[in-house]
Amino acid sequence: MALPKGFRWGGALAANQVEGAWREGGRGPAVSDVATYKPKADPKEYALHHVNTVASITAALEDDDTVYYPKRRGIDFYHRYPEDLALFAEMGFTTLRVSIAWTRLYPTGEELEPNEEGVAYYLALFEEMQRVGIEPLVTLSHYDPPIALALKHNGWVERRTIELFERFSRTCFERFGHLVKMWLTFNEIDGMIRHPFTSGGIIEETVEGSVLQASYTALHHQFVASASVTRMLKELWPEAQIGCMLTMLTTYPNTCHPDDVAATQAKERLLYLCTDVQAAGAYPSLALNALGRMGVEIPFVEGDVELLREHPVDFISFSYYMTMTESVNPDAERTPGNTVLGVKNPFLESSEWGWQIDPVGLRISLIDLYDRYNKPLFIVENGLGMRDELTDDGKVHDPYRIDYFRRHFEQMIQAVDEGVDLMGYVSWAPIDLISASSSQISKRYGFIYVDQDDLGNGSGDRLRKDSFFWYQKVIASNGTDL
Ligand code: BG6
Repeated sequence: MALPKGFRWGGALAANQVEGAWREGGRGPAVSDVATYKPKADPKEYALHHVNTVASITAALEDDDTVYYPKRRGIDFYHRYPEDLALFAEMGFTTLRVSIAWTRLYPTGEELEPNEEGVAYYLALFEEMQRVGIEPLVTLSHYDPPIALALKHNGWVERRTIELFERFSRTCFERFGHLVKMWLTFNEIDGMIRHPFTSGGIIEETVEGSVLQASYTALHHQFVASASVTRMLKELWPEAQIGCMLTMLTTYPNTCHPDDVAATQAKERLLYLCTDVQAAGAYPSLALNALGRMGVEIPFVEGDVELLREHPVDFISFSYYMTMTESVNPDAERTPGNTVLGVKNPFLESSEWGWQIDPVGLRISLIDLYDRYNKPLFIVENGLGMRDELTDDGKVHDPYRIDYFRRHFEQMIQAVDEGVDLMGYVSWAPIDLISASSSQISKRYGFIYVDQDDLGNGSGDRLRKDSFFWYQKVIASNGTDL
């Protein structure tokens, strides 16, 4: 069993969770800047994400205390990226996934010309990546729509946001396209339905009608935007590749009772809706029917169907952390996963945050996705959030993280051996960063430890964990030495 030569190895980051410098370089505020720190919340609440009101957003923007809004500080990647890239290169990365903050280029989303300071920052970042031999994989939108668009017209609910996003994307392609050849449109695009504020800048209290309808409207607008910028990229850089990005929430029936199987199938239909549209080019009729019965109508305008059909993505990327099960039993015990609550699987262990660890589920997911779409796949997030202990001699011993990755790599390699076309693997996250759901840094994912606590205290220094040296060895051997 072996991975192909040229298999891409690396890690994944998101601007809003690492950059910090939220008011520097002409950047405007994004929805991530009002995400609060949730230190003692019941883990189940993490799954529910952030609900905001106009009043809470306005107050948050006036409040300059970064303690409560840790994403404003991030891990100071904005200033420290050369050091971080050097560490990634030392681990042997060939690829690094990063995202571009829309509000660094267009502070409110509506400017006609980009903010040149923002352009210069990303140019410097991509040039440095080129210098250290790491290829960028760039997400255009990762949970950070401009707050100005959220306040003005509920972000992606209004169709005009498509045009604004096209303008932003054109700037990215024109200014960075000579350095960036792999792009992703929207991170975990399906997340719009679970956390409409984070994904779409939708403020629930100001939605007219149902939030579910508004979320599907916004999702449709992102589908259209994704197809439109796919067309744009191909016109500008025909050799570049662009992918969609799905939260792979693989779900098993909790029992073999046919009702549990049917409930799981219904869930799966909506899980695959996004890839059906973005990779296969159309809404599947059964999913449309299911939405109709939920009172949701997709706001097609003339030309949408053709645009979606004619401009599917080149490859499918996804995040994979955990699996869950589905049951019709209302008393079944539930546990959180990545922005969801699912029914607990009795055969799996859970992390402190309740996410159920399932390496075999990664193989199942790879095979399911490849069998369904026959397009190249890319694992663009996978990892384990844990508390780490820094020893007196400045070390972090993290055998649990090594064990998690080793077991997932074994399954990934097996799937490739079974015939899955996999472009690469980038872990979430190669360096400790601010959690998307709880804004903690103490939910640590990295091979690199960041000396910073949840309140932002610490030197910010970077330290190699034991897993750093293990991942370095895995990459050097292209996965043969686990
Ligand atoms: C994915 C997101 O859903 O999961 C990342 O794309 C996020 O932004 C990651 O950080 C892990 O989730 P969390 O809540 O533990 O940070």
